[in-house]
Amino acid sequence: MKGIVFTEFLELVEEKFGLKTVQEIIDSCNLATNGVYTAVGTYNHKEMFEMVEKLSELKSIPVPDLLTEYGRFFFKVLSVNYPQFMDKNDLFTFLNSIDGYIHPEVLKLYPDAELPRFTAALKGNDEMQLIYESSRKMAHFAIGLILGASAYYKEEMEVAIVKEEEGGKKVIISLQRK
Ligand code: HEM
Repeated sequence: MKGIVFTEFLELVEEKFGLKTVQEIIDSCNLATNGVYTAVGTYNHKEMFEMVEKLSELKSIPVPDLLTEYGRFFFKVLSVNYPQFMDKNDLFTFLNSIDGYIHPEVLKLYPDAELPRFTAALKGNDEMQLIYESSRKMAHFAIGLILGASAYYKEEMEVAIVKEEEGGKKVIISLQRK
């Protein structure tokens, strides 16, 4: 997993809970990196889960909630760093472009990026279904990104998990306009 996912996670933890919590997480996790990440490096995604689980324990916040919150925050980071992908007219067109355009472009920039697969199905003007597939089981992070995108495009959506399969490797997500 690319370093930017780690550096921005620690940035969010610092912003929300302070530097002391960042240090506590790094000290109590068994990290091969010792918590030192560069944005362009590549690291084992398991370190991310270790840190999120530790934060969940320390602050008594469920892991899925933390991942969703992190996804929302990460969308803002992406929109600042990659404005070229944000030029779509509406949210559904944008979400429809993740799998066929955005993530393939990300792979050109970072050939070692590990990306999920998304199958999008539009159901009229107010409803969309996205099927998330990835061995990393980060659908809650995806939901946070979708909520971040919905705030960016100023289109309010109810986002929910319809069905989880294969222990979270395949997750059906629904979007319904509010
Ligand atoms: C709402 C839109 C998006 C969604 C739902 C989404 C979803 C995800 C998810 C769930 C992951 C975690 C990896 C996994 O689950 O296998 C991921 C990774 C990533 N995505 Fe996206 N993404 C979105 C938009 C973007 C955009 C606009 C960019 C801009 C370039 C981007 C760049 C990346 C990068 C760099 C990673 C990390 C890859 C790695 O660590 O190896 N994504 N994305």
